[in-house]
Amino acid sequence: MTDTVLNCKDVGIKFGGLQAVQGLNLKIKKGELLGLIGPNGAGKTTVFNMITGVYEPTEGEILLNGEKINGITPYKIVSKGIARTFQNIRLFGYLSVLDNVKIAMNKDMKYSIVEGMFRTKSYWREEFDVNSRAMEILKLFDLDKYKQYSANTLPYGQQRKLEIARAMATNPTLLLLDEPAAGMNPTETEELMNTIKLIRDNFGITILLIEHDMKLVLGICERLMVLNYGQVLAEGDPQEVINDEKVINAYLGSGGA
Ligand SMILES: Nc1ncnc2c1ncn2[C@@H]1O[C@H](COP(=O)(O)OP(=O)(O)O)[C@@H](O)[C@H]1O
Ligand SMILES: [Mg+2]
Repeated sequence: MTDTVLNCKDVGIKFGGLQAVQGLNLKIKKGELLGLIGPNGAGKTTVFNMITGVYEPTEGEILLNGEKINGITPYKIVSKGIARTFQNIRLFGYLSVLDNVKIAMNKDMKYSIVEGMFRTKSYWREEFDVNSRAMEILKLFDLDKYKQYSANTLPYGQQRKLEIARAMATNPTLLLLDEPAAGMNPTETEELMNTIKLIRDNFGITILLIEHDMKLVLGICERLMVLNYGQVLAEGDPQEVINDEKVINAYLGSGGA
């Protein structure tokens, strides 16, 4: 047994002539919180898209708990325990906060369509379970008071939090967060930092975080990896990494990110 949850071995992808990611070796241990940083266009989101099966790498392989997952559909990858949030919020805006979380749990529902149509006992039992589990998750994120609101009426920071809550509803072992603090004010960012800590401590989950907000990154990540032009520029202890001259130059070169 190994305690490596995710292992990307020499992973790369080309889009036509563009080598968006190249020779990526990335290992994350169980319970680790790893920050993935780098200037815009460095390939960070593309890494998430490969891990979640949105894109198939053109080189290398990706292992989840030792099992190869590249080439598997995104839907199956979710069922294997990877959940993500997106750089741009993707909630069901007109659905309630509660329903946004319940929808993510649907893959666990066992009742048949007929049972659903005729509202049998087992339908109600499952519906009750799903409801109470969804409410538990909302409580944990302090979103239960908004349960009836349409998702798009929530303040921005709360919508971001709801996205994370929804990702957690699939019961993942690995959570990928793509710039969760983007567009947040400092108070919201602070709250988000506490939310991420809370998830990690409560669920013992492994987290890979893409983020530009250095306060957030340095506040919670135990290790950093820097991508630049699709390649790993530096990795290791957060303080050492951000003081690395190569890293500073990459950010200055891009006009800061
Ligand atoms: N589907 C795609 N087709 C073509 N090029 C893409 C595609 N997705 C990403 N890219 C390119 O790959 C590079 C890395 O993009 P991305 O992963 O979004 O960067 P980051 O998230 O670090 O800002 C960029 O040059 C981007 O234009
Ligand atoms: Mg991105």
